[in-house]
Amino acid sequence: MENKITVNGLTFVPYIHSDKIAEEVKRVAAEIRRDVDGCNPIFICVLNGAFMFAADLYREIGITESVITFVKYASYEGTSTTGKVKEVIGLKEDIEGRDVVIIEDIVDTGLTAAKMIEDLKKKNPKSVRFCTLLHKPDSSRTGFIPDYIAFSIPPKFIIGYGLDIDGKSRNLKDIYVIEEEE
Ligand code: IMP
Ligand code: MG
Repeated sequence: MENKITVNGLTFVPYIHSDKIAEEVKRVAAEIRRDVDGCNPIFICVLNGAFMFAADLYREIGITESVITFVKYASYEGTSTTGKVKEVIGLKEDIEGRDVVIIEDIVDTGLTAAKMIEDLKKKNPKSVRFCTLLHKPDSSRTGFIPDYIAFSIPPKFIIGYGLDIDGKSRNLKDIYVIEEEE
């Protein structure tokens, strides 16, 4: 793992190594497979942040009869939430009567998750499950708790493995956390 990195004038330090990410992706994939195998599920990856996690998770889940699709929501500017959740690309598929699994990068305030689930439930799916790579329980403004969580972390800003700062640093293999001021 590289050492400190600087992006947009902010310093980040290594936090979760790619090997540990791969381990937890395997664990969560096994939990999801156990719950939805045989149900013909539809996976919904939330762009942009979840693209890398979804690619790894979906391969690990390995249900060839399932489908994956993509939606896009945005709420962040720089390192903090705007409090407003925008649907940027909506769902084209019919999910009526289907078992849905949402794949998200991080649940912070829970506002995106709550809005997505509310929007999806209007389309009458059979079930909606929510999987996230990261959960910041102490930032919750909604009390929302994901069904599947790879890592629970404190309310600090992180980047890498799909997560960005103003669109940058999604390419990092490991997850980095913003450095605390002394
Ligand atoms: P929420 O609606 O506040 O739960 O935030 C969800 C979205 O905010 C995530 O899907 C991310 O795109 C973004 N976000 C929240 N925390 C972080 C972070 O620490 N780093 C990068 N993006 C974040
Ligand atoms: Mg996201």
